[in-house]
Amino acid sequence: MTEKSPLPFETMVFVCTHQRAPGERIACANGGREGLDILEVLRKRVQEMGLTGKVRICKAGCMDRCEDGPNIVITRSTGQTEYFKNVSSKNIQNLWENLQKTN
Ligand code: FES
Repeated sequence: MTEKSPLPFETMVFVCTHQRAPGERIACANGGREGLDILEVLRKRVQEMGLTGKVRICKAGCMDRCEDGPNIVITRSTGQTEYFKNVSSKNIQNLWENLQKTN
């Protein structure tokens, strides 16, 4: 039976890491896009900052916003959810600072 429960972490970050074959619709983790790199950068920062157990960085599948990607959704135990598009290694610092606001 399905059981509704609070989020198991203060913050959960869903990073689209979807990939497609050449010639298919663009995806967040191929065609020069950095979905997988962003995932690893965020996981490393969580470890470095000692936030393991509070912040969970999760792989996500396609959110059907592929042309705007890489895409990230951040949801917090407070109920706040935010969607970020066009994330890259160049602007990930802004995203990280946003993550830090409540952790
Ligand atoms: S591949 Fe990331 S939103 Fe579709």
